[in-house]
Amino acid sequence: MVGFSQVGAESDWRTANTESMKSTFTEANGYKLIFDDAQQKQENQLKAVRNFIQQDVDYIVIAPVTETGWDTVLQEAKDAGIPVIIVDRMIDVSDDSLYTAWVGSNFLQEGYDAVAWLGDYLKKNNRSDDDINIVTLQGTIGSSAQIGRTDGVEEKMKDYPKWKMLERQTGEFTQAKGQEVMESFLKTYQDIDVVIAENDNMAFGAIDAIKAAGKTCGPKGDIIIISFDAVAAAFDSMIAGDMNVSVECNPLHGPRVAEIIQKLEKGESVDKIAYVQEGVYPADTAAQEKPKRAY
Ligand code: AHR
Repeated sequence: MVGFSQVGAESDWRTANTESMKSTFTEANGYKLIFDDAQQKQENQLKAVRNFIQQDVDYIVIAPVTETGWDTVLQEAKDAGIPVIIVDRMIDVSDDSLYTAWVGSNFLQEGYDAVAWLGDYLKKNNRSDDDINIVTLQGTIGSSAQIGRTDGVEEKMKDYPKWKMLERQTGEFTQAKGQEVMESFLKTYQDIDVVIAENDNMAFGAIDAIKAAGKTCGPKGDIIIISFDAVAAAFDSMIAGDMNVSVECNPLHGPRVAEIIQKLEKGESVDKIAYVQEGVYPADTAAQEKPKRAY
């Protein structure tokens, strides 16, 4: 029996992640899955984990909303002798033995990749010497996906003195909030060159806001759109000419978590930390890449 506490259903990425977990942990594959949707609230995740402990599940799997706040509940799981596997975002705990393994993305690297892509893109377009104004739609504050992407961009931006971060605000990883925050950025700043959206759904919202304001975006437009996740709809957006690039964040963790559980069942050791391989997908490759995408 596996209890899985999922963040919520805030994005296409999350839907793909849930689907990967549900299609892996099936009865046909020998599992009973107890799935809990926390609706983006850590307090719901804490309740779910306590519920799993009460039900005496064999494994607890958590996709954590935020990094902090896990020590007490994970100590309870440890005291009950239930192994905990963390998936997708990371946790920040004082004692690493509170979880058995983690598998997910290198969010800091994703931030680095976004900056490297922008530097190359501006160079190719003879804009390396231009002043470049950037706004960022951040993910859920305190989540690894937000922390890594924000920090990665901030660190590597230091190599580009002509770039200026006008403002960062959270769009909570949702399309609606991404659109709302972008509308307010557009009212405040007349001269935005680049939008960094910390996931595709916020980028879709931002694109809607840009169009509604009578501005243009994408490779042939005024505003460069950089996004993260590389879900199917991002490829459609790039093919339509709206988005410039999406840095991949792979959600297909079901089989990876199952492999960890299978190894633990056999008494084998598992990697404590496992990063997945991810790529960068610019608009000019979108039409060719889209048919190969699994999510
Ligand atoms: O933790 C992964 C992030 O969470 C994805 O980038 C985002 O779309 C999701 O909500």
